[in-house]
Amino acid sequence: MSVHDELQKTIADMVDGGRGILAADESSGTIAKRFAAIGVESTEENRRFYRASLLSAEGLGDYISGVILFEETLGQVDDRGVPLPDVAAAQNIVPGIKVDKGKGALPGAPGDLITYGLDGLAERLAGYKEQGARFAKWREVYPISPGNPTRLGLTANAEMLARYAAVCQSVGVVPIVEPEVLMDGNHDIERDAEVNEWVWHEVFHALYRHGVVLELMILKPSMVTPGKESTRAVPEQVAEYTMRSLRRAVPAAVPSINFLSGGQGPEEATANLNALNQLWQAPWQLSFSYGRALQEPALKAWAGRSENGPALQRALLKRARLNHLAMRGEYRESLELE
Ligand code: 13P
Repeated sequence: MSVHDELQKTIADMVDGGRGILAADESSGTIAKRFAAIGVESTEENRRFYRASLLSAEGLGDYISGVILFEETLGQVDDRGVPLPDVAAAQNIVPGIKVDKGKGALPGAPGDLITYGLDGLAERLAGYKEQGARFAKWREVYPISPGNPTRLGLTANAEMLARYAAVCQSVGVVPIVEPEVLMDGNHDIERDAEVNEWVWHEVFHALYRHGVVLELMILKPSMVTPGKESTRAVPEQVAEYTMRSLRRAVPAAVPSINFLSGGQGPEEATANLNALNQLWQAPWQLSFSYGRALQEPALKAWAGRSENGPALQRALLKRARLNHLAMRGEYRESLELE
C-alpha cells in the first residue's frame, strides 16, 4: 500500500460519523496523579490491568474508533498474553501513540511553553508502527494570561505541530494535531475565543507551509470556554463561540475535529459536544478525544480492586455511549440516570 493509501485507510477507519477517540496516553507522571486521586499506587501491573480493562470493555468499538496509547502500553499484554494494541484492533479500534516528550519553558517568551520530541521521530514512528500504531498525537500547550500567548509562542508552537505532522504523514502515520489552550485562569469566553482563533490560524498556516495534507490529519482542539476561575458558560454558549472560531480558522478539508476535555467534567464535556452537534451542519465531523472526561468515572469505579473490573468497564461504556449520542445531538441529561 502507498503511504497515501495507508493514511487514507486509517482516516476512513477512524472517521465514520458516530465514534470518537479514547485518550489513554497519560505519561508516567500524569497516570501516577490520576491513580493517587483514587488511592492507587502507579505500578506497572496496575497500569497494565487498568488499561487492559479499558480496551477490552465489550462493545467499546461501537462508540470508540481510536485509542491513544502511551509508549509503555504498546508493549503490554492482557491476561491472556495478547498485546494491548491487538486487543484494541480486535474491537475495531485503531491503536495510536502519543509521541511528544512533554513540555518546558520557551526561552524568549516568558509564560509560554514548548513541547519536545522531534529528534529521531521518524525512527521512533517506524518502531511504533511495528507494534501496531497507525496514528500519532502531539500536544502543544498554551496558557492564557494578559500577555500570553506571545507572538513568538504562537509561531514556535505552530511550527512544532507542523513539523511533527509532516514527519508522521511521510511515514504513513495519521497525525492528530493538538493545540491545547489551557482553561486555567479567570479570562472570559471572548478572550478564550480570541486566543483559540490566533492559535488555529497560526497552526494551519504552518501546516500549509510544511505541506501537510489536511484531508489526512485530525485536529484536537480545546472548546472555547471561559477560564476555570470565571463564571461557567452554558453548553449553547460554548457551542456558539467554538463554532464561530472554528469556522473562521479551520479549513473545511480537515475531516474531523476531536475535542479534548481539558478539565471539563464528564457530563459537561458531553453536553457541550451535544450542543455543538445540534447547531447546524459543520463541514467537519465534530467528535471527541477525551481523556479525563471518559476515564474519571471508570477510575472511581475501579478504585484499584481487580474485582471492580466489570464496574470500571460499565462506567467507561456509559460515557463512550453518551458521547456517541452527543455526536448525533441526541444526548439528554436524563440519560445520565439510566
Ligand atoms: P483530556 O481530555 O483529559 O484533556 O485529555 C486529552 C488529551 O489527550 C490531552 O493531551
